[in-house]
Amino acid sequence: MDRIRSLFLLVVFSLLLVPYVSSETLAAESNDQPLIRQVVDGSGDGDLLLGAEHHFSLFKRRYGKSYASQEEHDYRFQIFNNNLRRAKRHQKLDPSATHGVTQFSDLTPHEFRRTVLGLRGGLRLPSDANKAPILPTDNLPGDFDWRDHGAVGPVKNQGSCGSCWSFSTTGALEGAHFLATGELASLSEQQLVDCDHECDPEEKGSCDSGCNGGLMNSAFEYTLKAGGLMREEDYPYTGTDRGTCKFDKTKIAASVANFSVVSLDEDQIAANLVKNGPLAVAINAVFMQTYVGGVSCPYICSKRLDHGVLLVGYGSAGYAPIRMKDKPYWIIKNSWGETWGENGYYKICRGRNICGVDSMVSTVAAAHTTSHKS
Ligand SMILES: *[C@@H]1O[C@H](CO)[C@@H](O)[C@H](O)[C@H]1NC(C)=O
Repeated sequence: MDRIRSLFLLVVFSLLLVPYVSSETLAAESNDQPLIRQVVDGSGDGDLLLGAEHHFSLFKRRYGKSYASQEEHDYRFQIFNNNLRRAKRHQKLDPSATHGVTQFSDLTPHEFRRTVLGLRGGLRLPSDANKAPILPTDNLPGDFDWRDHGAVGPVKNQGSCGSCWSFSTTGALEGAHFLATGELASLSEQQLVDCDHECDPEEKGSCDSGCNGGLMNSAFEYTLKAGGLMREEDYPYTGTDRGTCKFDKTKIAASVANFSVVSLDEDQIAANLVKNGPLAVAINAVFMQTYVGGVSCPYICSKRLDHGVLLVGYGSAGYAPIRMKDKPYWIIKNSWGETWGENGYYKICRGRNICGVDSMVSTVAAAHTTSHKS
């Protein structure tokens, strides 16, 4: 009888303990990966590795990863382990978001920067760039999301190519084209990757260069000069920059009328977003490698811009840091597919130019192009 009773008590005790333990831990990426709680919570390295191995096989299955050799596999497993530790650090620095395993968990930070980012160049502006006029900000809506108004297409995936800048550019022009014509067209990043070699006017060597990076402002300048962008279906994305330029002027689907840079003021950014459509913005992406969801608002984040994305909206009260009122945030469309982040989207807090998100913001206006359909 005594043994049964103590067994019963043991079970009750463990059940009570479980929620206590997991409430303190890094939240799991999803329910099918519960072991991350043990992984990041493990007191000893033995626990950590035991959990990590299981977690690594879940990761490989989920993202369809396979490695050419055992050496490569072991090397990637080691990086995966380092990234679990990084995710835990990011979680501490950024408690209003959830950090954990992502499709990039087997990449070193260097590989991540080299292959899935791709913003290069300085802050100087192409000759045709305007400064956006100051807009009134008193009647801005409290919450706003261009996805609710038909100006944002499905999330795309840049693959292993540093072409983020081309996705940010097409996203902004797709929105502007929608506002000008009422048509939501998907535009060609590959045209920019293959054909746009526009250079920063004052910084020699800082030119748009396919999978090796580029700048949205230079890409708007290229698009203005070239006459416009073709449709995705007429010039599909390949994810490499080894092909030649196949731009066909007779198949232009959307054109740039002009483009402007927006001042660093967050109300001006919001006003330009609401008036002109989604904005091309640059950001420091270091927290995005481990981002799973929530509003990212790290205590410390570099403002060195290395990633181009699309600002599509904002919310007034999305996350509540401890002992503070709900805080506003930006809604950002990324180009890493729908499996990353919140169905391909990222939320970052407003108010402090976090990760440099307010530093390089551009708006584009589309010309009314008679659009070709294939
Ligand atoms: C940009 O083009 C749009 C549409 O043609 C026009 O309404 C706007 O005034 C232009 N802006 C600038 C700064 O030239």
